[in-house]
Amino acid sequence: MQPPHKPSRRKLLTATAVAGVAGAAGGLLWWRRKETARPAERAARAPAPLPPDPEFPNALRLPGAQGLHGVLDVAGALTIVAKSARHDILPGKPAAMLTYEVEHLGKTFLNPLLRMRTGAAFRATLWNALPDPTIIHWHGFRVDSNNDGHPHYAVPGGATYNYHFTLGNRAATYWYHPHPHHLSGKQIYLGLSGFFIVEDDEEVALQKALDFKLGITDLPLMIHDRTLTPDGELLYTPTSVERLDGLRGTRMLVNGTPRPYLDVDARPYRLRILNGSNARMYRLAFRQGERLLDFHVIGTDGGLLDRPYRVREAFLSPSERLDVLLDLRDANRGDAVTLVSLEFDRMDHQHEAGGHRAHTGMHAATHAAHHASVSDAAGEKTTVPEEGSALDIMRFRVRGPVAYQRDLAQTLSRPLSRLEPAAHPGSKPRVMTLDIKGNRWRINGLTYEAQKTPIVVKRGATEVWEIRNAQSSMPHPFHIHGFQFRALARSGSPEQQVRLAVTPEGLAATDLGWKDTVLSWPGETVRIAIDFTHPFPGDQVYMVHCHNLEHEDGGMMLNLKVQA
Ligand code: C2O
Ligand code: CU
Ligand code: CU
Repeated sequence: MQPPHKPSRRKLLTATAVAGVAGAAGGLLWWRRKETARPAERAARAPAPLPPDPEFPNALRLPGAQGLHGVLDVAGALTIVAKSARHDILPGKPAAMLTYEVEHLGKTFLNPLLRMRTGAAFRATLWNALPDPTIIHWHGFRVDSNNDGHPHYAVPGGATYNYHFTLGNRAATYWYHPHPHHLSGKQIYLGLSGFFIVEDDEEVALQKALDFKLGITDLPLMIHDRTLTPDGELLYTPTSVERLDGLRGTRMLVNGTPRPYLDVDARPYRLRILNGSNARMYRLAFRQGERLLDFHVIGTDGGLLDRPYRVREAFLSPSERLDVLLDLRDANRGDAVTLVSLEFDRMDHQHEAGGHRAHTGMHAATHAAHHASVSDAAGEKTTVPEEGSALDIMRFRVRGPVAYQRDLAQTLSRPLSRLEPAAHPGSKPRVMTLDIKGNRWRINGLTYEAQKTPIVVKRGATEVWEIRNAQSSMPHPFHIHGFQFRALARSGSPEQQVRLAVTPEGLAATDLGWKDTVLSWPGETVRIAIDFTHPFPGDQVYMVHCHNLEHEDGGMMLNLKVQA
């Protein structure tokens, strides 16, 4: 005798034959009836699905065991192929995109989430299967120039480039992306980029203590904005105004998913948020109904902070990362929590610059024309939301309670990480001015020239840099290769930034810990301390640049030489 829930082969054949007569739907019903034979067990496994939400109809793409964004635990040498591929951003509308494809232990990954331990050796060959030159930069990594992915090392189509380095960085959420001069914005926009998560003992202990599992309760979220054509295609065709302001898109995507939702349990989640946008900044908050939820910032670009900081909002400029703890233990089944960007003053004051004024007439006109011309893949006319306008990014839908037996309060009351205090050297600060002349953004009055190294520092020196953004300017995310740094102070900050200060020096939670990118507002001065100690012999050439990718490609970028 067969147990009743396991149909014998003969019964199965009979059922299939019946289904054959009744049609495919009949067959499905037959299976469903069999499955519901054990309702108690099913209820224990998962609560009933929540009804669809027309505002957020698409399931968030999360890193799985392979495929797009799949988690790749690096073991041995990788071959990373930069190539064109078709991939549907809008369901059922495959778009031409660029991706990094990796075959690893019999699996195929696209833009894999690379995961490694601090101190491990990384070996990879980039194979450029694109028509244009490219090179991979490991954003935030402490490596020598040969491994940094400086534009100088870009290889032409068909060529390869070898990387080999030891991972000297702290545990944190890093990322990788292309860096060929004039083409970074285009290649990133069309799809090339991925997460690089570094772990160490401290990090693994935190994951254990709070029961965080990557891709399930520890969620990497890459946020960026893109415009899709009616056919669901991505196009990178910035206007002259967009080259000046940075390119913004009509839609917000999270991990490449438009209008995404994620069904969650009433428990704490860790969100590793990366602003992967070309130019758009976000003022992130979590909204439930009319209420904004408190959340904890537990880490930034270079890993965990000394302790969690409870906040209600945070600015995140392009390439910055924010490690967030969102506690949903008090939520009820059916609650919806929306990750939003709150309205803010975009502070685009560049038109006030004397030489720039003639440009503004055209500016407004082109903007209007551009807005009117964009129509959505669904056929509706849509516009590019202005920088600083309110946006809904994604929705968490609470399925209901779940057993969570960890002592969150206790873990949060203990230090998260041993974070050495920032150095405060007495030396005269080195000034970095950010401004515009004509239609070119500059650093210290200069734009990028491949053969020049206008910034020279001594290996082993600790310097204070003063990033001074001009009054007639716009916000710039200032980024340095090869070294992470500590923010010391903000001054001359706009009110919307001042309100977020958690230190007497005017720093926000997003400025704490180890940083590789720091946001600077018009009229503001940000002081940072950089320790140029590293283990690499000989002169090394890195760079500093604005991480607004259109600014970077336009030359708001300088070589930085570290002299042995
Ligand atoms: Cu993500 Cu040169 O930068
Ligand atoms: Cu970088
Ligand atoms: Cu900029």
